[in-house]
Amino acid sequence: MSAPGAESIARARHAAGLIDCAMPRHVAVIMDGNGRWARQRTLRRVMGHRRGVEAVRATVTSAAAVGIEYVTLYAFSTENWKRPQHEITVLMELLERFLHDELPTLLDNGIRLRAIGQVERLPASVRKSLQDTIAATAHGSGMELSLALSYGGRDELVAAMRSIAQSVANGSLAPEAISAADIQGGLYAPHLPDVDLVIRSAGEQRLSNFLPWQSIYAEFVTLEQLWPDIREEHIHQALHAFAKRQRRFGAVEDA
Ligand code: IPE
Ligand code: IPE
Ligand code: MG
Repeated sequence: MSAPGAESIARARHAAGLIDCAMPRHVAVIMDGNGRWARQRTLRRVMGHRRGVEAVRATVTSAAAVGIEYVTLYAFSTENWKRPQHEITVLMELLERFLHDELPTLLDNGIRLRAIGQVERLPASVRKSLQDTIAATAHGSGMELSLALSYGGRDELVAAMRSIAQSVANGSLAPEAISAADIQGGLYAPHLPDVDLVIRSAGEQRLSNFLPWQSIYAEFVTLEQLWPDIREEHIHQALHAFAKRQRRFGAVEDA
């Protein structure tokens, strides 16, 4: 397993024009526009999902190459269960195939995989592939790739509140002692740092229930391309846009 070393990261950043640029630690991606991509070609929606897999690969490998530490991909929301059953079935099949087919790429790049969301709602075969791929990549020393699957930000916060309520009920936590760290501790992946950059494709400008706690100070970059058309250059474009932002976190610049 070989995560890109400092030299390789410097070369990739140089080639992308990202030398001496402020880089995000955690990039969250809302992959949108598969259905529209298919409709534009008078294809069925699921064809857009199939073609979207290449964009996932391009995003993951280009982020790893320039040394991004954490990437979280919004693959399936809690609201996406409202879609037609056939579409859900194809999305689950694609996910399973992705986990199998992309394992060599994940290993080659030293990428650690994890999942966030209501994983228990996924079909058993997908859960099995997920477990296998997570275990196989566990020692990767490079980027951490989180797949948000049956993920909803409200659900995540509800689960965190429940675990806090348990601690209060059993007397181990006083209500007045509840802190932001306790809420963070109840999230699906408490160690994930705040999101620095949210990228959404297909020109949309909303979060759609994605990482609300983690994204309070995230920079938002919208790409006009539909998800299946996203390639390395678009990820670089979003990183360039991020580097130009001035992040103040509520403070003043010259304090
Ligand atoms: C994103 O593409 C994929 C998922 C949400 C799973 P969409 O399927 O939402 O595509 P549009 O928004 O209908 O074009
Ligand atoms: C958000 O896209 C969910 C994922 C990318 C998995 P949607 O296409 O489901 O979101 P809305 O309904 O347009 O907000
Ligand atoms: Mg959509």
